[in-house]
Amino acid sequence: MIRALRRWDRKALLALVLKAMRSPRTLTFLLVDSFLVPVGLRLRGVRVGRGCRFCGFPLITLAPGARITLGDGVVLNSRPDSNPAGLPHPTILAALTPGSAITIGSGTGISGASIVASSSVTVGRRVLIGAGACVWDTDFHPLDPERRRVHATRGATSAAIHIDDEAFVGARSIILKGVTIGAGAVVGGAAVVTKDVVPGTIVAGNPARVVGAVAADSAGARIS
Ligand SMILES: CC(C)(COP(=O)(O)OP(=O)(O)OC[C@H]1O[C@@H](n2cnc3c(N)ncnc32)[C@H](O)[C@@H]1OP(=O)(O)O)[C@@H](O)C(=O)NCCC(=O)NCCS
Repeated sequence: MIRALRRWDRKALLALVLKAMRSPRTLTFLLVDSFLVPVGLRLRGVRVGRGCRFCGFPLITLAPGARITLGDGVVLNSRPDSNPAGLPHPTILAALTPGSAITIGSGTGISGASIVASSSVTVGRRVLIGAGACVWDTDFHPLDPERRRVHATRGATSAAIHIDDEAFVGARSIILKGVTIGAGAVVGGAAVVTKDVVPGTIVAGNPARVVGAVAADSAGARIS
């Protein structure tokens, strides 16, 4: 009886596995997202924390001597259908110069955003960064045309960016060099942020201006 049950269990289990393997989505999840992406990132030199989740391959640029660190439980969405808003491109993490660093805090989620560091970009814990947001600590090119003629990118100005815990960076916003976004602050969709954002405020527009404040009770409950 027990042996028959075991045989049935094995058959049922096998049928279940075969059924799951026939679904391209399950296969992608098992093979690509849970295995190939984290292994591939580690092979590229990215430090990956425990319990990170990936949906598709992020695009990584890591200069020699640069550092990209993902804390525990970071979520990186990179497939177009991995966010109901749709992603314009995979998540991009680019540490361009030796000594530059991108640090993503535990529990932070990023959907198809572009994070580029020539100095450093530091993102806190449980931050959300929306589809197509750009967090760029560099102008990429020098402003003086003569210098650009000599070299298109060398000498571009850069300054560190900090996005503090539990901030929410809206879709298609641009966070420019030197900006600090305070804890629990909200950046509206398509905002262009050129100056520091006070913790717990809501900013929007181009250039971004304060348009509100996160309700005190909810901010108090969420910000640790
Ligand atoms: C920023 C946001 C969260 C604010 O929501 P809210 O607190 O309900 O703000 P309100 O709708 O009350 O707007 C307050 C003011 O800011 C303005 N405003 C709000 N969002 C704006 C935006 N993205 N750009 C420009 N102005 C904006 C409003 O016009 C309004 O101005 P007024 O006081 O002169 O009338 C919201 O508008 C937003 O941008 N949501 C997008 C979220 C997103 O990108 N999610 C990521 C998906 S992946």
